[in-house]
Amino acid sequence: MSAQDIGDLIGAIDQGTSSSRFFIFDAKTAELLTYHQVEIKQLLPKEGWVEEDPKEILSSVLECMEKAVENLKALNIDPGKLKAIGITNQRETTVVWDKVTGEPLYNAIVWLDLRTASTVEKLVASAPKQSKDHLRPLCGLPLSTYFSAVKLRWLLDNSDTVRQGVKDNRCMFGTVDSWLIWNLTGGVRGGVHATDVTNASRTMLMNISKLQWDPELCKFFDIPMDVLPEIRSSGEVYGHLAAGPLKGLPIAGVLGDQQSALVGQACLSKGKAKNTYGTGCFLLYNTGTELVLSENGLLTTVGYKFGKEPTVYALEGSVAIAGAAVRWLRDNLGVIDTSPDVEKLASSVDSTHDCYFVPAFSGLFCPYWQSDARGTICGITQFTTKAHIARAALEAVCFQTRELLEAMNQDSKIPLQSLQVDGGMTANSLLMQLQADLLGIPVVRPSMPETTALGAAMAAGYAVGVWQFDSGTLGAITTDTFTPSITQEDRDHQFARWKKAVTRCMNWAET
Ligand code: G3P
Repeated sequence: MSAQDIGDLIGAIDQGTSSSRFFIFDAKTAELLTYHQVEIKQLLPKEGWVEEDPKEILSSVLECMEKAVENLKALNIDPGKLKAIGITNQRETTVVWDKVTGEPLYNAIVWLDLRTASTVEKLVASAPKQSKDHLRPLCGLPLSTYFSAVKLRWLLDNSDTVRQGVKDNRCMFGTVDSWLIWNLTGGVRGGVHATDVTNASRTMLMNISKLQWDPELCKFFDIPMDVLPEIRSSGEVYGHLAAGPLKGLPIAGVLGDQQSALVGQACLSKGKAKNTYGTGCFLLYNTGTELVLSENGLLTTVGYKFGKEPTVYALEGSVAIAGAAVRWLRDNLGVIDTSPDVEKLASSVDSTHDCYFVPAFSGLFCPYWQSDARGTICGITQFTTKAHIARAALEAVCFQTRELLEAMNQDSKIPLQSLQVDGGMTANSLLMQLQADLLGIPVVRPSMPETTALGAAMAAGYAVGVWQFDSGTLGAITTDTFTPSITQEDRDHQFARWKKAVTRCMNWAET
């Protein structure tokens, strides 16, 4: 297709834990025309603490937008063809800022951060029957360090600046989507303070049935309701870009990154599921308009809601550390120079020789919800090399996914027949083959792995009337399939060993 034949375009910001990116898609074919990426610094001020600088998050997004637009011009495509942008983002990460100066009141506390472990303990102790599941019927989530409400509680308890901001009625709270929307639509000069239902469903403050901030939940966490953004649907015009090369363009789609991938993978009917491999790993199963509460440690979350259309829910299995284990091999151990190098290193050996790596750096999420678990490597011998450990890191991602799949199959009562995957790590074909082997079902990979950004673009395009969900607009995306190649006996043996390794890392942080 020549540049002149290109029709309407949609942009998408994907602000993830490890990097920010801006993508530009063709609204007719879903073809990815160009993108730009900037890595984000993670600040680790204390053991277990993970922060990011909200201003760096914002400037990285602006840089990505500028560079991607330059790329588009270099392709001889008129940026005027862009009709809207969507935003998808790392979820739960908590930002507080001053609405008068626009300055952050604290660094962003990232979803992986464990500083709230004692806050969570106190909250669990204050709940009837001391149950971490006490709030599940209202918000779909267990009490955990993972979610935004406990991070905001910690900020109110520990930062004088945040407390003063609240007292002076100058404090705004938001997940990363809200921080970006507010800034991109004008910031101190009239920025829109809003979030979407999917991001709000990760705070523990939204009533999952009513899709509104819940006074009982806010009371439980003792959170002042006037710091909260307005909750909107995932597909509607939020406001317009106030500056930059795309000034005036509407922001018309907002989704948490995992829900966005559900949309981008076209899991738009009940029973469809996808697994995204990013910093963490997240398996979402579309339960339609039915809100299903898990009996197996999964989360209930809003899948998406486009404008006034019915709300679609999902069950979610969340793994904290997937790609982050590879980043750790690169940055902390220095055994690879770049993340993609892990495939070559891990492929240089034919197995881990019974070495198991449980990367519980931020405790263990689904289905354990153990914030005091810590990482471990079991089964090391003199024979073990960095290649075995690299392979064990990849297998860890696959074993954790098997744990999610088993919980999901039990909750849904319908075993999944194949797994749709996406995310940066899916470029690693060894990982995909290991995943098929260790799950025992085919793994289906799209030719275009950026389905997370695509979901937000689809939501935005749909809201402004240039993207149809039912007209085969995902035509440019083909798939390839990895089929299991080991015996059930081998698979079960290895999984039993993994489970044994998991028991070794429990309660580690306890004195
Ligand atoms: O819940 C955390 C999740 O949204 C982070 O996603 O892509 O940064 O691993 P990612």
